[in-house]
Amino acid sequence: MNWQIRRFPILASTNDLALEWIRANMAPAGTVLVAEQQTSGRGRPGRVWHSPRGALLTTVVLPFYPEHVGWTALAAGLAVCRTARELGVPAGVKWPNDVVVSGKKLAGVLVETSSPKLAAVGIGLNVHNPPPDDPELAARTARLADDCPGITVDAVLERLLPHLAQAWSQLAAGDLTSLRTSWSEMDTTAGRRVRWAHGNLAGTAEGVEADGSLRIRTDGAVPVVVSAGEVVFEI
Ligand code: BTN
Repeated sequence: MNWQIRRFPILASTNDLALEWIRANMAPAGTVLVAEQQTSGRGRPGRVWHSPRGALLTTVVLPFYPEHVGWTALAAGLAVCRTARELGVPAGVKWPNDVVVSGKKLAGVLVETSSPKLAAVGIGLNVHNPPPDDPELAARTARLADDCPGITVDAVLERLLPHLAQAWSQLAAGDLTSLRTSWSEMDTTAGRRVRWAHGNLAGTAEGVEADGSLRIRTDGAVPVVVSAGEVVFEI
C-alpha cells in the first residue's frame, strides 16, 4: 500500500474529512488522515468519541469490498489488536469492533463509506492521552501507555499501518478463513453472557460466523446470528 499521511493539529473529525475527500475524489486508497485532536470525534452508534491529544485519531482510506462488508470493521479491529500485542499489550477483540485490555476499551473502529469503492476506516486508540474526567468512564478505559510506558502516537501508527495492509490483503483475497481464525484467537466475546441491545436478546456468545456476524445461543437454546449493532457483557 502506498501510504499518504496527512497530519492536522486539530480537526472536527478525521472521518468527516475523509468522507468529504472521498466524495471529491481527493483520497485514494492509502490516504491516512491523522489529527492530534478532534472537536467532534464520532463513535458508534452516534456517540461522541472523546479525542484529546495523546490518542491516535486516524482515518485510513482503504478499498471497500461490499461482498465482505461484515468483516470490514472486524478486520480493522484485528489490525489494531495485533499492533497492541506486538507492543506487548495483552489486547483482545470484542465484537464487532472494539479492542479491549482486561475488559477495558483500548480502541474503537468506525467504518463509513461515501463511495462504493472506498471505505473510511476511523480508528480511535488510547495511547498516552489523559484518562476521561468521568471516573466511571475512566474505569472502563485502557491506554497503551499503561502497559507500554514511553509509547508515542507516531510509533503506534507506524506499527498499525502494516497490520492494516495485511488484514486488507486478506479481505481482498477473500481469505475469511484466516481472518476468522485470527479473530477466534483474540476473541474476548465468545463464551460470555451478552445482551444484544438492538433486539433485546440475551444469551451466550458462541463466536463469529463466516460472514463476521456474531452467533448467540439464547436462553431458549436457540442460536441467533446478529450482524448489526453491538453487545454488552452481562457478567
Ligand atoms: C467506537 O465508538 O468504538 C468507534 C470510535 C471511532 C473513533 C475514531 S477517532 C478517528 C475517527 N474520527 C472520528 O470522528 N471517529 C473515528
